[in-house]
Amino acid sequence: MANAPTGSPPDAERDSDCEKRWHDALSTDWFGRPLFVYREVNSTMDVAAARAKDGAREGEVIAARMQTQGRGRLGRIWESSPGGLYFSVLLDPPNEKLAHEVPQIALVAGLAAVEALHQLTGKRFWIRWPNDVLSEQGKVAGILAEHRENRVVLGVGINVLQNADELPEGAASVKMTCDAGASPAAVLNAFGERFEIWYALWLKEGFSTLRRTMQFWLHGLGEPATISTGAQMYEGQNLGVDEQGRFLLRLDSGIQKAFDQGETTRMRPTEPPK
Ligand code: BTN
Repeated sequence: MANAPTGSPPDAERDSDCEKRWHDALSTDWFGRPLFVYREVNSTMDVAAARAKDGAREGEVIAARMQTQGRGRLGRIWESSPGGLYFSVLLDPPNEKLAHEVPQIALVAGLAAVEALHQLTGKRFWIRWPNDVLSEQGKVAGILAEHRENRVVLGVGINVLQNADELPEGAASVKMTCDAGASPAAVLNAFGERFEIWYALWLKEGFSTLRRTMQFWLHGLGEPATISTGAQMYEGQNLGVDEQGRFLLRLDSGIQKAFDQGETTRMRPTEPPK
């Protein structure tokens, strides 16, 4: 077991059994190398950001069995009960990507997450733009990409083993989606394997190469949708993502508009009158 990194909670807070199991399950190249698993932290984002400042290497993963201040996008709380997988990974994209394309990394991670969960369970999952992973039962995972210390901290929260009564309303777990379920160790490894592939392709060829696959996994493609940008709400047809990963909506006026941030919802088509 590697020593506790500086800028992080002390060794005593680490769950060494779990760390060993998760580490032994990894067949990745650089993702999770090294891997540190804590029993409980405030947020893996903050521990990883401190590690980023201390010069930790790209691919290092800080994971926790629970978080006391897990956070999501837009200042929301990410409830982090036991049975979930909560981790942040350090990334060093080149400067031009760091300056303009950090949100695309959340989409790359979404792709890795849906494929990993599909591979492990055989079930269909969807990406709800920009950063949610859904199953038929509800939201299973959330992703957060932050620009910290001139590096990227990518945070992923996946509900794995929880029951419905241990999750917030609208959330679901891998176990609720598939009776056979999957272990957090298997989910971490499957995510890491898929992420290494998509991230390398994104670095080499840019987001446009990922677009077709992304469209396949997108929730509500072609259907009526709304996007709320905070200031305004737009309605139209969900056209998926463009070459830069922006959300495309064909407004009711016929104009096509691209959004680089916002909250999307799918509007189920209304029943035709009988
Ligand atoms: C969202 O759905 O808004 C994003 C949720 C991201 C949650 C993960 S859990 C691991 C990492 N630590 C955090 O505090 N947040 C991210």
